[in-house]
Amino acid sequence: MARHLITSAIPYINGIKHLGNLVGSQLPADLFARFQRARGNEVMFVCATDEHGTPAELAAAKAGKPVDVFCAEMHQVQANIARRFGLSFDHFGRSSSPQNHRLTQHFAGKLAENGLIAEVSERQVYSNADGRFLPDRYIEGTCPNCGYDKARGDQCENCTKQLDPTDLIEPRSAISGSTDLEVRETKHLYLRQSALRQELSEWIDSKTDWPILTTSIAKKWLNDGEGLQDRGITRDLDWGVPVKKGDQPWPGMEGKVFYVWFDAPIEYIAATAEWADANGKPADEWRRWWRLDEGAGDVRYTQFMGKDNVPFHTLSFPATIIGSGEPWKLVDYIKSFNYLTYDGGQFSTSQGRGVFQDQALSILPADYWRWWLLSHAPEGSDSEFTWENFQQSVNKDLADVLGNFVSRITKFCRSKFGETIPEGGSYGPEEQALVQALTTRIRAYEGFMEAMEVRKAANELRAIWVLGNEYLQSAAPWSTFKTDPEKAAMQVRLGLNLIRLYAVLSQPFIPFAADSMLAAMRTDDRAWPDDVSAALDTLPAGHAFDVPEVLFAKITDEQRDEWQERFKGARA
Ligand code: 2FM
Ligand code: ZN
Repeated sequence: MARHLITSAIPYINGIKHLGNLVGSQLPADLFARFQRARGNEVMFVCATDEHGTPAELAAAKAGKPVDVFCAEMHQVQANIARRFGLSFDHFGRSSSPQNHRLTQHFAGKLAENGLIAEVSERQVYSNADGRFLPDRYIEGTCPNCGYDKARGDQCENCTKQLDPTDLIEPRSAISGSTDLEVRETKHLYLRQSALRQELSEWIDSKTDWPILTTSIAKKWLNDGEGLQDRGITRDLDWGVPVKKGDQPWPGMEGKVFYVWFDAPIEYIAATAEWADANGKPADEWRRWWRLDEGAGDVRYTQFMGKDNVPFHTLSFPATIIGSGEPWKLVDYIKSFNYLTYDGGQFSTSQGRGVFQDQALSILPADYWRWWLLSHAPEGSDSEFTWENFQQSVNKDLADVLGNFVSRITKFCRSKFGETIPEGGSYGPEEQALVQALTTRIRAYEGFMEAMEVRKAANELRAIWVLGNEYLQSAAPWSTFKTDPEKAAMQVRLGLNLIRLYAVLSQPFIPFAADSMLAAMRTDDRAWPDDVSAALDTLPAGHAFDVPEVLFAKITDEQRDEWQERFKGARA
């Protein structure tokens, strides 16, 4: 039995995410986790909310809530949406957890012991009225370029010019509006990533099987020089992991916290520790996933993420792990994704353009989205969501092919033989040929799933469904029945067994429909079809079943047009 550690990039806490976020990390990670479990392998699949940093503070302020309260609420909202999408995390944690505080402080302490942390003095804007340093985006003023009076310290939203807070005319605090600002000295910790260049470079070079998208981004950052610059890992904020050296205070760093991108990936480890604590398991239960000296030697670790996250996972996080000098597990494979675009443009939170995760679930069940998103995953390039394409793919693949197969065979059986699997007859050449064709395709499907070739796996699964329909069409039990009822019984028995087989194979993509199919077949036998012929003999003659409700309803043209209008956004 293989052991798979699987993590999805952890989504920011500030708000509900759109479908692009789902297909870029959580959903393909779930596909892989479900597949590995179905193969009988041991899986630890974790994700979490990314709760620190300025965006979390700002979103909380906007919502008029204390940041800890805001994060606790939004975590529940995101956890609930994830559950409704069928994301099968073993644990959905929080980067603000005590476990992550401890681990983040632990890593910082080890890095310091190993001489990889530098203390650097910087000059930053301090607000006397607010009693705190202001990050760039907390400072507002008039843009020197276009005169817009709500330009932010990092950029003018109106003319897009990149700014420094000191460029702003009449700068003021975005928190209180106070203009009583001054520039003060403040000390920060820098992670000396450049000292690890050699080791990181060798490690990345050893990953010859990684997707091109991942390695090309990693190498660009590594060789640009820019990516491996020493990086500030602390901030003057209240909300975050307090700066400490292990469990000891860090003199001169009082009142500061670690930078969100320092503690976020450490949360992968912490989420596993949270899982153990939440389930009353001892610490060695999570450490056997993460510590090479405590049992993680045979773990295969795969990360899923959008391409914008690749530099942090190929350079910064490995720098933390390697720099600690301790035997923590490094990632084995990074599956990264391009972007999903929406109807000829970008998804936009501020303009309400595109479908957000809660909206998606409010109009259609999760499996419709899962199928479209995964079968159109932005692997080789960006991919575009259009309502026409979505409608086509749902109506054809799910309703016409899979749904129709299930409905025809169960209804026909009920009408001629009743709601139990009929006996009689035995396989002929047509059935042998079907088993042969299924075997070839199922082996190809397994190969693509193992390799995380998401689109290719979806194509193969669709082809497997099509084989069933073609068989049914040519075997035509409704005609056979008139002349040879025994043979028709065999054809129907095969068809009903195919429903179970399809549920098992399809479950990583469409888990809810798969459950309905198994429930209709009154079985929970999810054995993977290593031997297809045997798999098609699982449900014996005499076994009772039910005709299920319609598995997938078609999307009408009216619905399509209505949704297109509804989600086009304010300024489309
Ligand atoms: O891009 C994002 O949504 C980040 N919150 C991803 C963090 S992934 C990791 F570092 F934990
Ligand atoms: Zn401007």
